[in-house]
Formats: sequence, C-alpha cells, structure tokens
Amino acid sequence: MLPRMIRCSIALVVALTAVARGQVYAQLHEGVYRVDASAEARAEALPSLSFALPEQREAYRPLDDDGPVLRPRFSQEDGRQIIVIDIPAGTSLYATGEVPGRLLRNGMTNTNWNSDSYAYTIDTPSLYQSHPWVLGVLPDGRSFGVLADTTWRSTFDLRDGIRIEADGPPFPLILIEQESPIAVVRTLGELVGRIEMPPKWALGYHQCRYSYFPDDRVREIAGEFRKRDIPCDVIWMDIDYMDGYRCFTFSPEHFPDPASLNADLHAQGFHTVWMIDPGIKTEDGYFVYDQGTDLDAWVRRADGTVYQGEVWPGMCVFPDFTNATVRAWWAGLYEDFLATGIDGVWNDMNEPAIFNVPTKTMPEDNHHRADASLGGPGPHAQYHNVFGMLMIRATREGVMRVHPDRRPFVLSRANFIGGHRYGAAWTGDNIANWEHMEWSVPMTLNLALSGQPFAGPDIGGFIGNGGETEEDQGRLFARWMGFGTMLPFARGHTGKENRDKEPWAFGPEVEATCRRAIQRRYVLMPYLYTLFWQAHTRGDPVARPLFFADPRDPALRSEDDAFLLGGDLLVRPFMTPDRDRAVTMPRGAWRRFDFADRIEGDDSDPDLPELYLRPGAILPTGPVMEFVDEKPLDPLTLLVNLDERGRAIGVLYEDAGDDWGFRDGAYALSVYLAQREGDAVRLRRLTRLGSFDVPERRVRVIVLDDTGRHEAIGPDGAVIDVPLKP
Ligand code: NOJ
Repeated sequence: MLPRMIRCSIALVVALTAVARGQVYAQLHEGVYRVDASAEARAEALPSLSFALPEQREAYRPLDDDGPVLRPRFSQEDGRQIIVIDIPAGTSLYATGEVPGRLLRNGMTNTNWNSDSYAYTIDTPSLYQSHPWVLGVLPDGRSFGVLADTTWRSTFDLRDGIRIEADGPPFPLILIEQESPIAVVRTLGELVGRIEMPPKWALGYHQCRYSYFPDDRVREIAGEFRKRDIPCDVIWMDIDYMDGYRCFTFSPEHFPDPASLNADLHAQGFHTVWMIDPGIKTEDGYFVYDQGTDLDAWVRRADGTVYQGEVWPGMCVFPDFTNATVRAWWAGLYEDFLATGIDGVWNDMNEPAIFNVPTKTMPEDNHHRADASLGGPGPHAQYHNVFGMLMIRATREGVMRVHPDRRPFVLSRANFIGGHRYGAAWTGDNIANWEHMEWSVPMTLNLALSGQPFAGPDIGGFIGNGGETEEDQGRLFARWMGFGTMLPFARGHTGKENRDKEPWAFGPEVEATCRRAIQRRYVLMPYLYTLFWQAHTRGDPVARPLFFADPRDPALRSEDDAFLLGGDLLVRPFMTPDRDRAVTMPRGAWRRFDFADRIEGDDSDPDLPELYLRPGAILPTGPVMEFVDEKPLDPLTLLVNLDERGRAIGVLYEDAGDDWGFRDGAYALSVYLAQREGDAVRLRRLTRLGSFDVPERRVRVIVLDDTGRHEAIGPDGAVIDVPLKP
C-alpha cells in the first residue's frame, strides 16, 4: 500500500503506540488481521457469528509481517466500544450492507440494527439487514475492509475516516488489506463464507405479489406467462395462502389443495416459493403453537414469561432461533409443508417485526437461551441482528432435510453478515418511484460488496403504483424491469393495495419491453449461471460496481448509473424519466451490442439498458426459453469482442442445475479462446474440465467489431473460423 520503508516506520511507531494502549494484533491469513482492544478483551470476546468457521477467528498467530497499515484506535465511552480508523485522503468507502442511496458511502452514517423499514428514505438509519463491514479503496486502487465482529447494535460513521461505535462488550476487529477491491471481497468470502450454488431455477425470473389468491388466480398468472411467451420460473405465495396467517397452514377457502396447485405449476415448468414468518399465533389448538409451547420454544421476557407481540395473525410468540433444539424443531416443521410440492421458502418479518410497539421489534432485554457456541444465554440486544439469520439457517436445514438431493432456495428479509450462506436477499419495502428505482442498483451492489451476491429489489416497487397516470406508471415499470432482470435476483413484487403489476398489466408496449428484458435474462443464463458458480467458488460478486473494471480510475469511483454483471458485461440502465444521465465508461473499447431485440426496424427499446461487452471477453449465451433448461443449450452462442491484441477469452460453467453432483465433479467447465488470424477470427475450446456430460452441440460464434457482426457455426470442440470479410 505504501512504500515498504515508510510503511515500516509508520508501523513501528504505531505498533509501539498500540502496545502502549494494549491493543493485540494477530494474523489470520496473509493480509488478514484481528485486532482486539486488549489481551483481556481478546480473551473475553464473544464467539463469531459471522465467520463460516468461527474457530478461524480464534487462531492466534503473531504477525508475520509488519501488520496492517491501518491502525485502529480503541476506546470506551459509557460502556460503548468506539473504534476510530484514519484513512488516507482520496479513499473511497463502500459496502456497509443494505443501505439506501448511492453507491459511494463517504460522508454517510448507518446503524446496524435490523429494522422493518417500510417506505425507507435516505434518512432511515437502519434497514432490514446488518453488515458491520466497510470496504475502502485507496487512491491507487489497493483496498481494505473492516469488519466489526459484533452482533450488537453498531454504527458506522463514515463522515471523517471510519468511526465505529457499538453496544455490548469489546469485540474483535477484522482488517483485510489486499491489492484490489475484488481481492478484499474474495477474502471476506473466505472468512464469512460464500454462497452455496443456488438451484438454477432461482436465477430465472420470479413473479410475486402480496398476494395472489385464491389458487386459481395463481394458475391464471402462471398461464398468462406461458400464453404470452414471457419467460418465468417461479411463482410466489405471500401470506394470504395461509389460514388466518397461521404459518405452516393453508387457507381451506383459498388454497384447499396446495399439492395440486404445485403439481399444476410444476407441469408447466414453474417452481413455487411460499412465505413463512417467525410470528406464531398465540392460540391453543394450533399445532405449531402447541408444539412450540410443549418444547418451551418461545423467546421470553426478562421476567421469564413468554414474550408476545402483534404481527399479521394478532398476538404471536416467537421461536428462539438462538437455541439448537428450537432450530431443529423449526426445521422439522418443513417436512409436511414441503410435502405439498413447495420448492422454496420466503422468510419475512424476521427482524423480528412487531406491530404494536414504537420500537417495531421486541424489547432489548428479552431473554434468549442461546447455544454456548453462539455466545450463551443473553439479551435480545445481543441477538437481535442475528435473529433472522438464525431463522433462515433453521429453515434451510429443514428444506435440506426434506430434499437432501436438491439445492435449497430461501429468501430472507432480515440477515446478518455471513447470512448469505443460508439465503438470498431482497431490499424490502421500496417505493414505486424513480428515486427508489435508482437506489436499487447501488443497494444491490453494496450488498454484494458486503458478501451477499444474491440480491435484488422488488422490481416495479412495493409501495404505490408508480405515478399519477397510466403512462407514468408504465414508464417506471418498464424501465425498472428493463434493468431489474440484469440484477442477480430478479423478482417482480408489489403491495396489497396496488394495481396489477405483472409484465402485461400496463398494456402492449410495456409488455413488449418486459418480454425483451426477461428474455435477455434467459439468453444470458449460461453467463449468469457461470457467475454464480464463480460467486460460490471464489466469492466474486455477481453484480459489481463499475470501478471494479479499473479500480485506479478515480472517475469511476462514484459511478452507479451503470454496473457490471460479472467482469465482462456492462449494463447501462436509464433510471431517470428523461434518460438524461451521462455515464463515465471504463477505459478501453467496451463494445455496445444487443440481442437483436429492437423494437421495429433498427430502433433500440428506450426502456431497456444499453449493454457493452468488455474488450477481450467472450460472452456465453443461449436460446430464449420459457424457463431455465426448457431447451438444450444448442447452439451455444459466443459473443466475442477482441481486445487490442486480437484476443478474447470466455468461460462457461454447466451442471445438472439442481443437485449436488457438481461437488463430485459432475460439471463441465469450458474455456474458449478467440484469436484474430489474418482475415478471420479462430475460436478454440481450450479446455473442458469435469465429468458432466455435455451432449454434442453447435457453437455459434459472433464476432463484434467496428464493421458489424461476423458469424460462423460449428461443432462444440472444433476449431471454428469466423471470416471477417464477406
Ligand atoms: C412485508 C414484506 O416486506 C413484503 O414483501 C410482503 O409482501 C409483506 N410483508 C406481506 O407478507
């Protein structure tokens, strides 16, 4: 980061100061440090709930280099822990989890305290999830990350350097220092874990609303997608499927036969996701309440009585997910539930949200009987931020118990750093307006920079209709769908009181845009699936800020009017009504292309984002489908943009899509190289790893250059020459 000499002397001076102040430094890996306020604080630190392998944080290794360049200063005020970190001028700050507003976080403050934040604004201090983590990019592109490894309420104040304040006892600070932002994000993934490979269907388009009911309305929605040739993989059931909002029940009136509903949807290539909340109706005779009461499963008040709070069904009790016995019981509840053919689970309201109190959550002195490995019994203040994470951990275990051979899919509203190991995220109850639409990109990106690559907004906005007139509403919706389908998690959703917001609900013009936007996602599926595999194996973010293309370019640091999907695809959405925002492009010949999905003649659809391919990239794409894997990937279409040396390279990952065979080698990882040779471009498959059986197929190569598109087709594995001149 700094020249070694200066670095050494700074380190020496600061290290001496640090020793004087009693701070204890340990090295976890190269460029990864743990810092505690004192030897005592280190000895008494609570276990890590963020680390995938908590014992990793405990391995004491003295520094084997000069230690970190950043030197935090620890202090205490009124029992609160305070850590101040000075950062060099020109450092750009990001991440801090799920935060409203723009990408760049310098000057911002947020509090990690999971909150039901319906209709959040720029001033809302805490949203639904907590990621006590900040990523910094130094002027020269080298990067660092700071994790405050505490579950207690913490505030990250980024107005003047980094100032962290946290309730609760002293906690370890984890510092990562690496050569680039992606290296920091990958290292974070080594500590807090990477996502498991999701089922491929979860990468398709999802359709939701609060709520589709009765069951025939669900069938109708599904039928419309197929009839109108709009791809869709998943239909969601929000709370109205339940019997009086009792979790794990079905409304006898509206959903008398969920198994046949699921079977009908499966027959058309859909999967289904159904909601389960943590609030369990206080009602003798309701089997979940009775079982949990027998087990003594509920969170208690400080005085030892069972805590009750109001949610959808009225007064509710709440499982104490910090307790292993309770989690195991909760997991078991999914057995009968999933026996109806339900594929995935949506855990909502798990901050936990409580209606009838000003704090909107349970009292901080409520008592949890937490496992010793999580920190032992303690107050809600200690476990609040991990309540949702521990809930989805149990949910995921339950789903896996029922379907050990399938990949689980869980979506959660609340979560904690590291909780991406258990579930995907959406950005909660946003508003159908241009401002929230615009935030949905940086919110997804900052979550990605906080370890959660599988995230996206309610496309179209949850609150409101999106404008006064039909035209305004349709424009907002079309634009949002236009780029929302390019985000890692793509689901249309809307609130109870609102107008219909299915892709066809705004008339034929908006429907056509939505069809194109969703079809693009399916055409890009081979690439998108490969990106998820890279997120799973390497911790790479799926959607990334533009500055990842060139972390040294200061002009890109605050650019969030466009984003990268993986390393090769730049997506430039239009998030203002007048399409008047200029975007700073990364250097190099990024080449604009489309999927010939123009309106009529040659006009681009103004509501779709512009797409650009990185110089040197080969983008693997497939045919349009109604749902993932509906058709074989034949032909595999490779879009090629040669770099200045006349070369391009691309990777394609394939496997069975919904099992664990890939862990035993049942995958196919193909690497393609394109090289200019005279008046042609020669494409070769350099290698194919893994034992997954890819049937014989064709490869269509499309080389994009200044003169247009040049195409050739041949068998996969053969050398394919694409003539550049007719
Ligand atoms: C709140 C969630 O944020 C929203 O997405 C859902 O539709 C409602 N709860 C009803 O379940």
